[in-house]
Amino acid sequence: MQLLDGVLVSGHIKEQIKQEVKDWQANGGKKPHLAAILVGNNPASEAYVGSKVKHCDELGFDSTLLRFESDITEAYLIGEVERLNNDDTIDGILVQLPLPKHISGDAVINAISPGKDVDGFHPISLGKMLLGQPSFLPATPYGIMLMLEYYKINTAGMHCVIIGRSNIVGTPMTILMSRNTNPGNATVTMCHSHTKNLRDITLTADIIIAAIGRPKYVTADMVKPGAIIIDVGINRIDDATKKSGSRLVGDVDFDNVAPISSYITPVPKGVGLMTICGLMKNTLLAAKQAKELIG
Ligand code: GUN
Repeated sequence: MQLLDGVLVSGHIKEQIKQEVKDWQANGGKKPHLAAILVGNNPASEAYVGSKVKHCDELGFDSTLLRFESDITEAYLIGEVERLNNDDTIDGILVQLPLPKHISGDAVINAISPGKDVDGFHPISLGKMLLGQPSFLPATPYGIMLMLEYYKINTAGMHCVIIGRSNIVGTPMTILMSRNTNPGNATVTMCHSHTKNLRDITLTADIIIAAIGRPKYVTADMVKPGAIIIDVGINRIDDATKKSGSRLVGDVDFDNVAPISSYITPVPKGVGLMTICGLMKNTLLAAKQAKELIG
């Protein structure tokens, strides 16, 4: 078993991004600038956005964090997105999800200018991705592709089972893994809450991508020996042995699955760090494209 090490891979990619930003600035480009919108005070969202802002600083990007109370109206939030769309100093916009129930995530994401959609959630970004046209890829699936690429895992012809069909991970992941690219060229099965005989399907998988949001859902009896395991889950569970009283676990029962897998991502320090790399690469690309568009 080999660990797919998010610290190692993200460290390598972050060094590349830092150098690219320096080269870009040396050639007259301006610092990439990410605007992050956080609504309410969901602790997990606060942590994710905090990490994204910290990474901007580390990589030589500017960042602006806009925080709003959870009772903000949808119209006001869309107005703020439009203001950022029209602000030439901003290259990328991310709206941390989930949003409060009274706000339509679709409406807010649709309001983001596609040229600034560095999370890759806008219908235009997803449509272009579906067609294999250059686009901002959704940050987590993009990060997973970067991880597979780094370890030179040739997924061509593999059976890839993706568990979960969210718009931000499972669904785009099916497209990327089946595209005629490397990594990619896999035969993909998407499983979800209505899938019958899930275990029969996962036992035929050469690669499992678990994005269900349920702690330790994928157990060793569901995994073919030698399979590659990508764990997208970040779940907090009670743990009385920890000072905080809790710890993070993935969607995979790591302790029992790791010994029978060929490669596996840990949680934490796995896919989560790769998501940030995807976001940062998209933001740098947005900054470069803005210069082409605006001059
Ligand atoms: N919520 C969970 N994952 C993500 C992500 O990658 N981007 C945003 N904006 N929200 C999320």
